[in-house]
Amino acid sequence: MSHIAFLGLGAMGSRMAANLLKADQAVTVWNRSREPAARLGELGASLAATPRAAAAGARIVISMVTDDAASRDVWLHADTGAAASLEPGTIAIEASTVTPVWIGELAQAVHAKGAAFLDAPVAGSRPQAEAGQLIFLVGGEAAVFDRIKPLLEIMGGAVHHVGRLGQGAVFKLAVNALFGIQVAALGELLGFLGRAGLDRARAVGILSSLPITSPAAAGTAELMMAGNFAPMFPIDLVEKDFGYALESAQAVGASLPTTDAVRRIYAEARLKGHGGDNIAGVVQLFT
Ligand SMILES: NC(=O)c1ccc[n+]([C@@H]2O[C@H](COP(=O)([O-])OP(=O)(O)OC[C@H]3O[C@@H](n4cnc5c(N)ncnc54)[C@H](OP(=O)(O)O)[C@@H]3O)[C@@H](O)[C@H]2O)c1
Repeated sequence: MSHIAFLGLGAMGSRMAANLLKADQAVTVWNRSREPAARLGELGASLAATPRAAAAGARIVISMVTDDAASRDVWLHADTGAAASLEPGTIAIEASTVTPVWIGELAQAVHAKGAAFLDAPVAGSRPQAEAGQLIFLVGGEAAVFDRIKPLLEIMGGAVHHVGRLGQGAVFKLAVNALFGIQVAALGELLGFLGRAGLDRARAVGILSSLPITSPAAAGTAELMMAGNFAPMFPIDLVEKDFGYALESAQAVGASLPTTDAVRRIYAEARLKGHGGDNIAGVVQLFT
């Protein structure tokens, strides 16, 4: 049993922490707002008042929050940040979808405490988080990865070491761009097919049977047809990740013209009030 601090209990973090508890790990949780932490408390977690208090004495500290700014607050806030509690031998893990630039900055603060650090963002959404079937894309030292892999396997169906520190973040941004591009393309093409007089439901059935349509895109097309936009991967987060991909590509001199164009589609969806909708909600721009 490891003493784990879990910071950030949103849609993803609450499910991941719950799986650690189900696997009989000792988990101390913290969340900015109180209710989610109280719910984990009912499942057996200890509650902490700040990230710093949660991380005190923990051997593993995992963060799962919205973005770079939230991660900075959780780890480095002058009064409450978790980094100040890290000790030599502690493993710090940033599982949020953030930028590689931020991972580099955070690594300096973590390493200054003598602790180890991995970026370990996840592919998969709420159902996969719930089922312990996330796919971890981990960057960092292989020796640290090997030590932490069994713990990540409690929350994940696959745990990949993709490269050095920060490359987990890069890989995750590429995965989300690939998914978001497919979904936006489906949305606009369903709009096109409908306006051209084709039966969209039938079109989705046929498209989904073709090898050109990924299983994830096919599943999202079903949600589009059902008008089911209940949030799993909300457009607000999709657009954040597209922005991070573009920023990160620019930093290494890579060109992402398709990602750039599609980001504008998700930005428009947010402007039109669909930011809280699941990614499938992008179809509302075209139907
Ligand atoms: N949803 C998905 O399908 C999915 C899939 C893979 C990866 N991800 C990534 O996983 C991360 C979490 O996503 P999610 O869906 O769990 O998001 P979420 O439900 O919106 O939860 C966000 C979490 O971040 C916390 N937070 C936000 N700003 C903060 C701040 N300044 N200081 C401290 N805590 C802060 C929130 O606290 P409060 O409860 O107080 O608001 C909440 O715990 C994101 O990076 C996302 O891109 C999401």
